[in-house]
Amino acid sequence: MSKYQIAVVVGSLRRDSFNRMLANAIVKLAPPEFSFKQAQIGDLPLYNQDDDTHQVESVKRLKAEIAASQGLLFVTPEYNRSIPGVLKNAIDHASRPYGQSSWAGKPAGVLGASIGAIGTSMAQQHLRNVLAFLDVPTLGQPEAFIQAKEGLFDQAGNIGTGSREFLQGWMDSYVDWVKKHAA
Ligand SMILES: Cc1cc2nc3c(=O)[nH]c(=O)nc-3n(C[C@H](O)[C@H](O)[C@H](O)COP(=O)(O)O)c2cc1C
Repeated sequence: MSKYQIAVVVGSLRRDSFNRMLANAIVKLAPPEFSFKQAQIGDLPLYNQDDDTHQVESVKRLKAEIAASQGLLFVTPEYNRSIPGVLKNAIDHASRPYGQSSWAGKPAGVLGASIGAIGTSMAQQHLRNVLAFLDVPTLGQPEAFIQAKEGLFDQAGNIGTGSREFLQGWMDSYVDWVKKHAA
């Protein structure tokens, strides 16, 4: 088993999601001591505080996956200048019951792809706000606001040559960040 297990949370449920493609591609730039698993969030019910005392299996599964990880990777689109509801729903679920948040202390990276040039910058900033409250130390630099345009991915689904150097640098910083906080 890899030394560092990372829970990846993708903020889009869309079948052909650019953000999922980005998540799938960027993990290939990590060293072998890192392994990544995408958390399923599409089957979570809408969060209802009444259910805190009897969380359903899908919520328990999400919490267990986060608990077992040494780090987090959020890859999200921007919806109406914020994070998608499905992502916030997942974050809220795993933050409860009160006092038993699964997120606290897990080092995180935040990435996003949008068809707009500065897209996801506001979503990422909103996400950082939420994560700060949840005591999640988040890699500050480099920021990565990725524009989903022709050539971002190659035919095999890898990061295309135009973005590879930048995203390799991002991944190298992320790896250092996780190691620093997981130590
Ligand atoms: C409800 C909704 C709101 C959106 N709002 C924004 C936005 O605020 N900023 C932006 O750059 N793109 C916005 N978009 C466009 C998304 O960037 C685009 O749909 C993108 O492909 C979504 O990511 P995905 O491919 O991972 O699903 C929005 C899309 C939807 C469906």
